[in-house]
Amino acid sequence: MKHKILTTAILTGAAAMTAAAATDALRFDPEAFTRQSITMPDGTQVGYKAYEGIFYVTNVEDSTYQTLNIYVPEHLAETGRVPILLRTYVGGYAASTAKSPSPADASGRALQEGYVVCIPGSRGNNSTVEADGKTIYTGIAPNGLLDLKAAVRYLRYNDALIPGDSELIFTDGTSAGGAMSSLLGATGNAGDYAEDLRKMGAADARDDVFAAICYCPITDLNHADMEYEWLYGCTNRGVRALSADQIVISDELAAECPEYINSLGLTETDGTPLTAANYKDYIKKFLIASAHRALQEGCEIPDSIGFTFYQDKSGPMGGGPGMGPRAGQRPPMGDGREAPSFGPGNMPRFNKTSDFVTGLDLDKYLSYVASVTPLKTPPAFDQMGVLIDTPSPENKEFADREGNPANFTDFSLRHRLGDPKASLDKDMVRRVEIMNPMNFIGTGRATTAPHWYIRHGAKDRDTSFLVPINLATKLQNAGYDVDFFLPWNRPHSGDYNLDDLFTWIASTLKTAN
Ligand code: DHB
Repeated sequence: MKHKILTTAILTGAAAMTAAAATDALRFDPEAFTRQSITMPDGTQVGYKAYEGIFYVTNVEDSTYQTLNIYVPEHLAETGRVPILLRTYVGGYAASTAKSPSPADASGRALQEGYVVCIPGSRGNNSTVEADGKTIYTGIAPNGLLDLKAAVRYLRYNDALIPGDSELIFTDGTSAGGAMSSLLGATGNAGDYAEDLRKMGAADARDDVFAAICYCPITDLNHADMEYEWLYGCTNRGVRALSADQIVISDELAAECPEYINSLGLTETDGTPLTAANYKDYIKKFLIASAHRALQEGCEIPDSIGFTFYQDKSGPMGGGPGMGPRAGQRPPMGDGREAPSFGPGNMPRFNKTSDFVTGLDLDKYLSYVASVTPLKTPPAFDQMGVLIDTPSPENKEFADREGNPANFTDFSLRHRLGDPKASLDKDMVRRVEIMNPMNFIGTGRATTAPHWYIRHGAKDRDTSFLVPINLATKLQNAGYDVDFFLPWNRPHSGDYNLDDLFTWIASTLKTAN
């Protein structure tokens, strides 16, 4: 359903010509499509119109990446306003070309549901162009994010011409792409990006979105090192087997984390303040909730990984007093979903067998996670020049235009330079700040998406559990609708359990129709 029309500004002279040229260059052509189809895993053929290779800015710097594709299903959803799924394939903070939909992920499923799909390309930490005999790195932070914002603006600008409702954009990405999705969700219309977007020739339109879907977002980069060591430090002398030098770095980083946790001013859903003192118990609640649901769904959880269980000997629904929530205590979702909305509460007393989780030895569980996939060494993200010279993807993300990777925390900069007083320059501080969604939520600095779906696998060690938990909690505390969970036995991955995701999307849309 369309509810806006493009207006033509009344301008004169050269300004009018420039504006007209820019307007035309960013105008969507509804006739410029080919017909394509994909076969879904269930054998269904989904046909769609494909609009591909569309430039979403007028001052294109990198024509390989600054384009988007739009896919419009032959059978649009008939449930009122039609949403648009904006799927980014950014990984490792690298550049990503505009892709076509895949039957294996949310893009194909969205088309099957009758939703419009937009897949933008974006510059990243490895994209380059040659200019004046020099190699220019085009995708250093925040340029990849700016590209994705420009894509959102393109959809808004062309709302009257593109089927689907640009007021119902759902962004979706995994890992660094999950970070981008969280930034798109958190930073809508923020003035911090406005001048850069104007210079790029992005459409003059809003760039806030309706919902952000974030799988294992690798974000809060300037605190991620301390959060990693504070959580996983317990494994340093065990399964992680760090050297003495590495343990020194790990301990120094971990020591910085409590102050950061306390500075966030977060609370549990019942209002209990979250501090470094109770935060590990908070993490445990999410992991226990994950294990509970896994048991309910028939998974077996070994005794050896830290969980303790209640074994009910008196039959499937029996059991003595004081054993936690009873069957039926969980409030019904009303939409057929099993997931709790936010928080570790609502732990169902599963009735399939009689076991349920009574506790968790967190250190033991973290050692288990580290035994499945070796942990990163400290510092996990801003690693260049501390104990090794190799730059991480994040060091490359904060490179300069010549591609020289850079530190993005005072901690690592000081270690690299051997100068305890060194600090990031002003420009780097600004770049790091506007690449962190935590700086925008609940601040009035941006139009933050009202709806959030955040997932981080219960055995994903690419970043600390604190990163997604802080993100989800900050959003929830600020009053946004957050569906957050740590899915059991999931490693670093995304676009899984699409039934759950699309049930959530449908329930979210009900609030909009
Ligand atoms: C990704 C994974 C990482 O561990 C990381 O540090 C950055 C990006 C990724 O998969 O996108």
